[in-house]
Amino acid sequence: MMVRVERVLDEAQVLELRRLIESGEWVDGNETSGHQSRSAKRNRQLRQGSQAEKTAGRMVLDALGHAPEFIAAALPLKVFPPLFNRYEGGEAFGAHVDNSIRRLEGTDFRIRSDLSATLFLAEPDSYEGGELVIEDLFGEHRVKLPAGDLVLYPASSVHRVTPVTSGVRLGSFFWLQSMVRDPGEREQLYRLDRTVRVLSAERGPTDDAVLQLTNLYHNLMRRWADA
Ligand code: NI
Repeated sequence: MMVRVERVLDEAQVLELRRLIESGEWVDGNETSGHQSRSAKRNRQLRQGSQAEKTAGRMVLDALGHAPEFIAAALPLKVFPPLFNRYEGGEAFGAHVDNSIRRLEGTDFRIRSDLSATLFLAEPDSYEGGELVIEDLFGEHRVKLPAGDLVLYPASSVHRVTPVTSGVRLGSFFWLQSMVRDPGEREQLYRLDRTVRVLSAERGPTDDAVLQLTNLYHNLMRRWADA
C-alpha cells in the first residue's frame, strides 16, 4: 500500500525546516547506506547526529504526531529518527532495497523497517528529475510531491530516485516499524478506519452502526497489533 499524506508541514514550517537544514553540514550520503545500496547512491546527507539534524528531526516527528492520516495508515510503533538528503547536479539513487533491520549507531535502538517514508521539502517545479520511483508487481509508481507532503510506501519494495538535472531536491526520509506487521492486515485496518470516519462525520460518533464498526476496528487491532 502506498499512501500520500498531504500537508504534514505547512508552508511556514517547510521554510523554517529548510532554513535549519540548509545551514547544517552536508556530507556524502553513503554514511547511512547498507552494503548493497552503497554503489547506487550519489547524494548528500545532513550529518547524522549533528545539532541541525536532531532539531530538524524533532520538528518532523512532532508534525507526524499531528498528522492523523499518517497515524491511521502507518500505525507506527517505532520511528527511526528522520534523516535529510539533497540531490543536485545529476545526483541520483539507483535501484536498491532498504535494510530490513535498522539500528541507530551507538545506541541499542533498532527497528524492523515495515514502511519507508519520504517527506518532500522542495517544490516540484524548483527541480528537474528527482522522482521517487517505487516498483511493485503492477509496475512502477513515480512520485514527486509538493513541499510538505509525504509518501508512505512498503520498505519491502525496490525503489530509486531519478537524477536531479537542475535545481535542488531536498527531502526527509525515515523508516518505521508498524504496530501491525502484516501489510494486508494494516491495509484493511486503514480502509476500515477511513470508512468509520466518513460515517461518523455523517451520522455522529454515537450512531449505533458507527459504534459497532468502531468496536470492530479496535477488536481487529487487538488481534493484529503489537503495542
Ligand atoms: Ni531506499
